[in-house]
Amino acid sequence: MEVVLTGIKPTGEPGMLHIGNYVGAMLPAVAASKNPNVHSYFFIADYHAIGGDADKLARSTLEITASWLAVGLDPRKVMLYRQSDIPEIPELTWILHCMTAKGLMNRAHAYKAAVAENDATPGRDPDQGVMMSLYSYPILMAADILMFKAAKVPVGRDQKQHVEMARDIAQRFNHNFGETFVLPEPVIGEHIATLPGLDGRKMSKSYNNVIPLFAGEKELRKVVMKIKTNSLEPGQPKDTSDSALFEIYRAFATDAEAAAIGERYAAGIGWGEMKQVLFERINSELAPARAEYERLMASPGEVERLLKAGAEKARSVSKPFLAEIRDRVGIRPLAR
Ligand code: TRP
Repeated sequence: MEVVLTGIKPTGEPGMLHIGNYVGAMLPAVAASKNPNVHSYFFIADYHAIGGDADKLARSTLEITASWLAVGLDPRKVMLYRQSDIPEIPELTWILHCMTAKGLMNRAHAYKAAVAENDATPGRDPDQGVMMSLYSYPILMAADILMFKAAKVPVGRDQKQHVEMARDIAQRFNHNFGETFVLPEPVIGEHIATLPGLDGRKMSKSYNNVIPLFAGEKELRKVVMKIKTNSLEPGQPKDTSDSALFEIYRAFATDAEAAAIGERYAAGIGWGEMKQVLFERINSELAPARAEYERLMASPGEVERLLKAGAEKARSVSKPFLAEIRDRVGIRPLAR
């Protein structure tokens, strides 16, 4: 069975997930994980997030795990674990360091961008503020991927190069020590649905125009009421094609429901009424997930137990595979 592996970095502010993430990334990933022909791995990439505020990292790990569980990721059907619960990963990371050309890492976009920024500032050392964790980031990521023989790695465009580097590293290892690793391929979502935000631009934390995924009912209503509309009065026919309200509604509705709302637009539905319709639609879809999210956030012990159980399952794969890898490179018991 083909392994599909998704890593999620626990960074960002509390409550950062928004309905654009839900529609564009989380729901499709949860749906794909239900395909019986793939073996899905989901993990929280906390080693990748070290270096900033420690409490925020821990909090984000809980939030992200609770969020994915709440929207339907089923830990009985997928591997769900926390990277730092798998000690085989840092060990493999070192072994892969020994197989990775420094020149390959010099070409990584994120590292190059940091150096370019320093270069643009007169009198600055080119490596100022560059941590080894940034420099070696692609090698840790390669270990995440290769450890579980992932063939497909769904990522955003910014991560494509990292998956290609993992492939290069795997190739070199296989060449030197014999067929060991599966060569991974990045899968870039070409048709990722994006939602408009409150101001009509793409919904994004950086535009400060998001509808938070797990906002309480009151807040959700308040935020939906802020969505930008034009100045047409109730009774005047309206166009669905440039309406953020309609686009968001459509992402949460069936085709038939969207068509029915289209007719109400033509008949001149008032913006206030449409906002109420949208609020009710989003709220009824998200209410169960929100309740589950709140329950999990209040039961960190339960989330911890789930992650530990997931790690145990994942380690039943990583432990024997690492033993094989160690043997290949010559880390062996001297006698049986
Ligand atoms: N680097 C990824 C990101 O920033 C997260 C990640 C870490 C990851 N390890 C991975 C993604 C392995 C896919 C596979 O989003």
